[in-house]
Amino acid sequence: MTRNIVGPTDRPRRLRQYPAMRRLVAETRLHPAELILPMFVREGATEPVPISSMPGVVQHTTESLKKAVTDAAAAGIGGIMLFGVPEHKDAVGSGATDPEGILNVATRIAVAEAGDALVVQTDLCLDEFTDHGHCGVLDAHGYVDNDASLERYRDMGIAQAEAGSQLLGLSGMMDGQVAAVRDALDDAGFGNTPILGYAAKYASAFYGPFREAVQSSLEGDRRTYQQDPANRREGAREVDLDIAEGADIVMVKPAMSYLDVLADTAAASPVPVWAYQVSGEYAMIEAAAAHGWIDRRRAIEESVIGIRRAGAGAVLTYWALELAEWMR
Ligand code: PBG
Repeated sequence: MTRNIVGPTDRPRRLRQYPAMRRLVAETRLHPAELILPMFVREGATEPVPISSMPGVVQHTTESLKKAVTDAAAAGIGGIMLFGVPEHKDAVGSGATDPEGILNVATRIAVAEAGDALVVQTDLCLDEFTDHGHCGVLDAHGYVDNDASLERYRDMGIAQAEAGSQLLGLSGMMDGQVAAVRDALDDAGFGNTPILGYAAKYASAFYGPFREAVQSSLEGDRRTYQQDPANRREGAREVDLDIAEGADIVMVKPAMSYLDVLADTAAASPVPVWAYQVSGEYAMIEAAAAHGWIDRRRAIEESVIGIRRAGAGAVLTYWALELAEWMR
């Protein structure tokens, strides 16, 4: 005797049976144009210097930067984000506003190499340039002075625009920084230079390897200006403020531990929303893969597709070139 077993009427597995069908119904795709490669350029270096906590990433010389930019352009990625590693640091981060400072020099080189193949972007923050390692200047009590830092950011913005930066990435988390730099740029005749606000930026352990990458001398932490990882509502507020102040693009950072903030931002923002998969996120996957504990390529692709799925239009990732190669 046969029994009639009533099976499920909904069978999502129908669309998962073979690769061509899965590809056809995929909701999210990676494309090289939506990837941005962060790059470090070290003043005075004669050879690229490996960063031990970020296997595969180096501090470039101004010479090796040229080839790196050409490679990025050839890979078809959307842009690069430049960080400077100066030889000398001081209390106000003088190297940040000096036209001959490493970041401004690197920007001129990168813009000349890139032509119109990709968007050359610069990190606008003082921490790489200050001897105390904070993102702003300090008051007499050692507290990061918000409004005095804004004055430095204004000058830094103009210096970067003069060097040819095509997008200024404001990552210092001072209150009012977008408005201040927008005003300075407009005053100086750079009304067409856009601003990327690192709008929701959290005080994160995942920036750890970055400290080595820029040889930061920071002691302590950035919790008086970067956000508390506990706060989701505050992320939305910071994004609103940056947009109101004139940010052309907003960013959520880090990415993987903040996908809720990213999804909130993607749902609410009238301007493009990006995410930064930071140094510690990179190091974590590389380390686990080096031990053979996870499949490296699958983990990298899954991590970035997850960030895109949560709502990022573009992703800053240290794997940008490798991902672009895989997509060919
Ligand atoms: C600030 C800045 C940082 C990062 C990008 N811009 C460091 C920080 O805020 O502590 C971190 C990026 C990364 O970890 O990959 N200049």
